[in-house]
Amino acid sequence: MNFLEKRIVEDGQVLSSSVLKVDSFLNHQVDPELMEKIGKEMAVRFQGTGITKIVTIESSGIAPAVFTGLSLGVPVIFARKQKSVTLQDGLFSAEVYSFTKQQTNTICLSAQFLTSGDRVLIIDDFLAYGEAALGLCEMVQQVGAVIAGIGIVIEKSFQPGRQKLEKKGYRVESIARIQEMKEGSLTFLTNIKE
Ligand code: G4P
Ligand code: NA
Ligand code: NA
Repeated sequence: MNFLEKRIVEDGQVLSSSVLKVDSFLNHQVDPELMEKIGKEMAVRFQGTGITKIVTIESSGIAPAVFTGLSLGVPVIFARKQKSVTLQDGLFSAEVYSFTKQQTNTICLSAQFLTSGDRVLIIDDFLAYGEAALGLCEMVQQVGAVIAGIGIVIEKSFQPGRQKLEKKGYRVESIARIQEMKEGSLTFLTNIKE
C-alpha cells in the first residue's frame, strides 16, 4: 500500500458500499503533512507535462491543489460553487449534476486568471461520477486552455468517473484507487487490506 492507502485504512470509515468518510484528514480536518506528500506525488506523476496552472473546486479540492501548486511552482485557481460579489467579470460557468445530492449546480471561474496559452492540471479530492471534473474541464476549454491531466486524491474505481474522463481523452492519475468497499473492509486496485 502507498502512504495514502495506508492512511485510508487507518483513519477512513466505510459508511456504505459507496461512501468513504475521510473527515479526519481531507474533508473537514486537513492533515498538512499528508497534503504535502500528495502534492509531491502529483508533481512526480505530472512532471514534464508543461503544466502552467492548477484548477480545482472549493472546498475540499483546495488543500491538495495548493500543495500540488507548491510542488510544481504554479498558481492554483479554485472554481466556486456560488457566484461571489467580487467575482463578476468574464465568468465562465458549467452545470454540474451531483448524483450524490441529486441536484444540478452551476460552478464558475473567472476568465481573469486563465489564458489560451495555459496547460492546466485539474485536481480534486474525490472522483466518483466525474461530473465535477468534467465541469472544470469544460470551463478551462471555454478559455481555450489545454487540459494536461486530471489528478485525483481518492478515486472510487467502481463508479464511472474515470471511464467518462478517459473516454474524453483525459489522462487521469489517482493516488488511491478503491476497487470495492464493504462494511469494515476496503480493497484497492493494487492491494487488499481488511
Ligand atoms: P462527481 O463530482 O464525481 O460526479 O461526484 P458527486 O457529485 O457524487 O460528489 C458530490 C460531493 O461528494 C463532492 O464533494 C465529492 O467530492 C463528494 N464525494 C463523492 N463521493 C464521496 C465519498 O465516497 N466520500 C466523501 N468523503 N466524499 C465523496 P462536495 O460536495 O463538492 O464537497 P466539498 O468539496 O466541499 O467537500
Ligand atoms: Na468533496
Ligand atoms: Na471536491
